[in-house]
Amino acid sequence: MTITQQLQAIVGTKCLENEPMSKHTNFRIGGPAKWFVEVRSVEELQNVLDVARENELATFVFGGGSNLLASDQGFDGIVIKIAMRTYDIQGTRVRADAGVLSSGLARATANAGLKGLTWAISLPGTVGGGVRGNAGCFGGEMKDHCTSVLVQRGGALVEIGKDDLKFGYRESAIKHSDDIILSATFELEEGDARELKSELDDKLMKRKTSQPLDAGSAGCMFKNYEIGTDEELQRLVEKLDLPSEMQSARRVSAGWLIDKLGLKGTQIGGAKVSDVHGNFVVNTGSATSDEVVQLIALIKTRARNEFGIQLMEEVQYVGF
Ligand code: EPU
Repeated sequence: MTITQQLQAIVGTKCLENEPMSKHTNFRIGGPAKWFVEVRSVEELQNVLDVARENELATFVFGGGSNLLASDQGFDGIVIKIAMRTYDIQGTRVRADAGVLSSGLARATANAGLKGLTWAISLPGTVGGGVRGNAGCFGGEMKDHCTSVLVQRGGALVEIGKDDLKFGYRESAIKHSDDIILSATFELEEGDARELKSELDDKLMKRKTSQPLDAGSAGCMFKNYEIGTDEELQRLVEKLDLPSEMQSARRVSAGWLIDKLGLKGTQIGGAKVSDVHGNFVVNTGSATSDEVVQLIALIKTRARNEFGIQLMEEVQYVGF
């Protein structure tokens, strides 16, 4: 059997060959994945991983495609989209499969009168991707209520408790491992469904007014910059006229910094620094991954040369 046939035997029509990743990424950028498969159960996932191992093929685990920059060269291996999408709510405890959309979980829990995830209504991507990178916005982060994560590690299923997840700003232990997130458990609080639903609308409105949502993008391109020592803080306060919120958070908003550098609107080919929010690189329609990489390099160079700030990408690269 060919590899395609072996994969089709596992996932049926959910195996596509030479599938453009641009069809699956929010950036609308990315060349062909040699195989693009959707797995709808742990068993399917295990079987696909077996095929990859037996044939020495590279794999890439794909969540919602919202925080990815995929190379125009594509990916010479199996891209595995995690498509397990059930959740259950028992009292204040919620367990969600990795493939559930974060925004869907935010709505479902608000409808159930559970407080803690309303911020995620405007979060693109899936629970698995969100937990892996400890995604956050508008005052919430995955780590606030996530109590454990079930992962696939080698051939085994392992439940990882909060302490071992080592969550940090856009960080978790999973990001530095080969573990594949299967589901996550959250402990929420009781709230009033009507109030929570109106909170959802507020958060959506906030996102709409401050970020470019219509254009293809990967969300925020860079992590906000964490200020190390008091001396550095002092230097940046003097040099940058740092707003008081950023001083007390000891973090420089990358979007604000890029705005300050006068880079909004800067364009290389089809890739452009958004006019709305400096930390968004948008695809004006025909951007290549190479143009985005060039724009990233330009922004990083300017931030380092002019303010001594080393920006780090939040976006994940695939196929580079
Ligand atoms: N600002 C500017 N110009 C800009 C962008 C921002 O002056 O071009 C100012 C804003 O007016 C505000 C401050 O900078 O006073 C901070 O901006 P914002 O509230 O947009 O927050 P941020 O620090 O830039 C973070 C997250 C976003 C999240 C927002 C809202 C990171 C890298 N970014 O952005 O997350 O949506 O807060 O909570 O942590 C993402 O991770 O993909 C993402 C978009």
